[in-house]
Amino acid sequence: MRSTITFLGHAGLDLRLGATRVVCDPWLSARGAYLGSWYPFPDNGHLAAKDLHDTPTLFISSPRPDHCDLETLGGFPKTVRVVIPAFPSRVLADQIAQLGFTEVVELPDWQPLELGGGARLTVVSASTRHILAAALVLELDGEVILNQNDCPLDAATLARLAAIKPSVHFVQSSGASYFPSAYDFSPDQMKAHVGEEVAEIFRRFVGAAVEVGARYLIPGGPPCFLDDRGFELNFGGSIFFDTDELQAKTAIAEPALAERLRILYPGDAAVGEDGAWQFDGHRPYTDKRQYLEAYRRARAPARENQLAELRAQAGPVEVKELRSYLRDLFQFEDMTWNLGLMVQIHLSDGPSMWVDFRKKPFRYLTECEEPASYVLTLESAWMSLVLQQKASWHDLLMGQKVMIHRDPDRASPRLMSHFDYRHDEALFDLVRRVDPALITIQDEQMEYVCQRFCPHRGRDLEYAVIERGVLTCTAHGWRFDLRKGGKCLWGGDAPLLVKEIRPLK
Ligand code: FES
Repeated sequence: MRSTITFLGHAGLDLRLGATRVVCDPWLSARGAYLGSWYPFPDNGHLAAKDLHDTPTLFISSPRPDHCDLETLGGFPKTVRVVIPAFPSRVLADQIAQLGFTEVVELPDWQPLELGGGARLTVVSASTRHILAAALVLELDGEVILNQNDCPLDAATLARLAAIKPSVHFVQSSGASYFPSAYDFSPDQMKAHVGEEVAEIFRRFVGAAVEVGARYLIPGGPPCFLDDRGFELNFGGSIFFDTDELQAKTAIAEPALAERLRILYPGDAAVGEDGAWQFDGHRPYTDKRQYLEAYRRARAPARENQLAELRAQAGPVEVKELRSYLRDLFQFEDMTWNLGLMVQIHLSDGPSMWVDFRKKPFRYLTECEEPASYVLTLESAWMSLVLQQKASWHDLLMGQKVMIHRDPDRASPRLMSHFDYRHDEALFDLVRRVDPALITIQDEQMEYVCQRFCPHRGRDLEYAVIERGVLTCTAHGWRFDLRKGGKCLWGGDAPLLVKEIRPLK
């Protein structure tokens, strides 16, 4: 049997096992994701979307615009079957329905979909339910491809995937978050935060690769940034490290894994013949800066049009409207009651609004002499799009349209959850309820039943260190006092839910 994996750029793959074909997350339009900020790297503009249109099946792993590019998807015949994960949120299903596809399959985790001729497809979504990302397994006649892309999976799920014995594992290797690049940290703070994040991202990449144990590992990402503010993120010192940097890191830290790495660039293919795979990667640049300068120039007209279209939809922001929007945004007291800080929404060309969460009733002020501990600065055009629900705070943050100042440098996940999830009620609800997954852990004396995923950024606490009642999350070192209601002792302001404490027998 002949199999091919053609890399379409970013998270996009064209998978063929014998006569079975599935196209995943194609992003081939000239539109930058997140309000004209993110682009596939390297450029995939030489690939024609119409060459993918005869696929019988599309798989879309996430509603995020770098996975679900509505312009590319809009060109597919509406008779193509679209497989999406059965997420707790309706956002992806609604987007696909609006495009007019007639056959949309919302597949629950681990429920196989027969594709004919013995081939089957399985979807596994992120272990943390409020993260809308999913992996796909494609199998035929003993050949198994795992497309994990940027879906975080816990150790048990990875072990279950390992048991299926994938021969090729596609997994994102770089970061995909607005932290810390959206913050105005000093160079030293930035270096420390980037270092911490990169270590965690690399740990996750290695953990998934080692646990699954596929013969070949194809790393995906990062995107590149063609806007002025983000351009330098492409050249090191950020969480968006490229495959050259990944190879160098892996060669030092995990030489055995480095042997399994295979780098593909947009349009490159891996070909499998009766289980033996050949990888043919052609790097399209030698000087990355020169390459990206040319890429930026080539995409400039489309990017400028895209931004002009967005700005044309914006209107002035009135104080009254901003206040009532913020009252609605922060309406859930279970999320705000002990935030204990002052937040400023600072429109660089319009009014400012301060929200004082330090004592009740919370105050919404148009003038304030005191410095806020969180200041979000943005243009009123972007705020206007949020007010009109044409963009979300998450789009703005990912798209480098907001600059955050925090002083002291202390994370507030509960505050930021409003900006990350409030546009999607189902997800915000999940975040409010705290992920219901629990874990039982113990120290020298006691056993604790507590929240399984770290309140900071969702690390599985199966890997945590517990000593004398203090749990330390291995991702960024946040510490929680398990014997004092999960109080956060170091890191930020979010407690860990501790349901039960009992002495060891
Ligand atoms: S995920 Fe960051 S400290 Fe736990």
